[in-house]
Amino acid sequence: MRPLFIITIIAVILTTGCQGNKEKTLMEENNMTVETILSRRSIRQYQPEQIKQSELDIILNCGINAPSAMNKQPWAIRVIQNQEFLKEINAGFAAFTIAKNPEMAERFGNPDNSFYYNAPTFILLGYDTTNKFSLNDCGMLALNMELAAESMNIGTCTIGCVIDFLEAPEGADFRAKLNLPENYKLSIGIAAGYKAQSPEAKPRDPNKIEYIR
Ligand SMILES: Cc1cc2nc3c(=O)[nH]c(=O)nc-3n(C[C@H](O)[C@H](O)[C@H](O)COP(=O)(O)O)c2cc1C
Repeated sequence: MRPLFIITIIAVILTTGCQGNKEKTLMEENNMTVETILSRRSIRQYQPEQIKQSELDIILNCGINAPSAMNKQPWAIRVIQNQEFLKEINAGFAAFTIAKNPEMAERFGNPDNSFYYNAPTFILLGYDTTNKFSLNDCGMLALNMELAAESMNIGTCTIGCVIDFLEAPEGADFRAKLNLPENYKLSIGIAAGYKAQSPEAKPRDPNKIEYIR
């Protein structure tokens, strides 16, 4: 009787002790949301095949279901799947970057260099400059889309590097084709497509978290 009692006590201590590690517990319980968040990586190599429309519809629908301040939805979403248009933006961006940073000529002069990693879909988000929460709202929209994509094993990469070019006079012709509403500027881009790589997770710093209790 006594050994059985001791084993029972040890088992109770072990199981309750594990509950302190919430992330592990949720993963162990197959919490799909936590798994999706922790599995997402920036993908920088894509298969050329276009994303199925049904999957893209889900991604976009998840995007617009993000929260926004007072539900104003102060965003514009432009889904670019015209490969010629993307290549032209890429060439313009390369020339723009080299003109500003001649030391980058080797990298950006290489026609294989692609700011969107040759993803078959590139989504640009515009924000309302007259709404002070619009940039935050766009961030929520973007991450909702990236997580929805990840849940279907579709890769994404947030792309900020091209925004300054598209907002500069040198990018005006491309920007005009985006047909953004008045008072809108570009906030961020998202490359999306089927993954051709499985990168390791990058380190995160838990010391950024502080409690005020
Ligand atoms: C606002 C923003 C802009 C970014 N711009 C770029 C970019 O222009 N090119 C790129 O390759 N990655 C870009 N990234 C991706 C980050 O480098 C990436 O999220 C970070 O290194 C963490 O890696 P992970 O997404 O795999 O966890 C951007 C991410 C954010 C949030």
